[in-house]
Amino acid sequence: MSGMAYLNGDFLPLSEAKISVLDRGFLFGDGVYEVIPAYGGELFRLPQHLARLQRSLDGIRLANPHSEAEWTHILQQVVDHSSEPEQNVYLQLTRGVQTRRDHVVSEPMQPTVFSMSNPILPLSPEVINNGIKAVTMDDIRWQYCHLKTTALLPNVLLKQHAHEAGAAEALLVKGGFVTEGSASNFFIVEQGVIITPPKSAKLLPGVTRDLVLELAAEHGLPHREAEVPLQQLQSADEIWLTSSTREVVPVTQLDGQPVGSGLPGEVWKTLRDCYQIFKRQQCRLQEGQS
Ligand code: PDD
Repeated sequence: MSGMAYLNGDFLPLSEAKISVLDRGFLFGDGVYEVIPAYGGELFRLPQHLARLQRSLDGIRLANPHSEAEWTHILQQVVDHSSEPEQNVYLQLTRGVQTRRDHVVSEPMQPTVFSMSNPILPLSPEVINNGIKAVTMDDIRWQYCHLKTTALLPNVLLKQHAHEAGAAEALLVKGGFVTEGSASNFFIVEQGVIITPPKSAKLLPGVTRDLVLELAAEHGLPHREAEVPLQQLQSADEIWLTSSTREVVPVTQLDGQPVGSGLPGEVWKTLRDCYQIFKRQQCRLQEGQS
């Protein structure tokens, strides 16, 4: 284990960062988190991540211990502790440490605040040239998927099933409609139109998802938000996954069948270029990086 961690106001080596076994995050998964990319030392889409953090905190009724300025200061320090050109900054808040295990929040607590940075590995040439495999699975998660909580056991189990089936992601199906991936949002392309489901409690409102829609609008790429039945996913010309750590990834095989031509599609290539240009405009990235 290497690198530095931020824990409750202090910076210390990650291997020395410890929390109490009575932390409600440990006992109940009672917490929320964000994963924020940083490129060339600059946090990317930070206001959007902090806005979602606030909505998650409101959703679990946990008071935000910091102002936006304080978060910015803390997270920038986390970034500055690393020399990686592309990082993902993990931020977790739990409800804190109780004196005994009790489902009921029966005493005042200080939230536990933890953050660390990890390098973002660029998409491999294999993924860029050939895409990834995905499998569809029953969406077994709860009814508040719009909150980014640390209670991720269903997501972990689904992703593990996908992994054991030789796929990189599980696309989740609820009531015949595709919601999202176990750790990503999804898009399809049908007859040149980019489609993703509208925001609802069934899916996490991804910051990358929103940026893809913004870029599509800015570049005049036809797009719409609409529910996607499983059959529409299966017959799509292109499928993409989006997340802060992987950006926009083409899925070229679904449940063992080729997606479209079986290779990353033309609309994905266009969108990916737009994404990389936008990134460079926003952050101090050199030409050639990503
Ligand atoms: N996950 N949906 C789910 C269930 C996710 O876990 C994620 C991201 C997304 C994409 O959101 P965004 O574009 O804001 O990263 C959608 C992060 C990366 C994770 O859990 O590590």
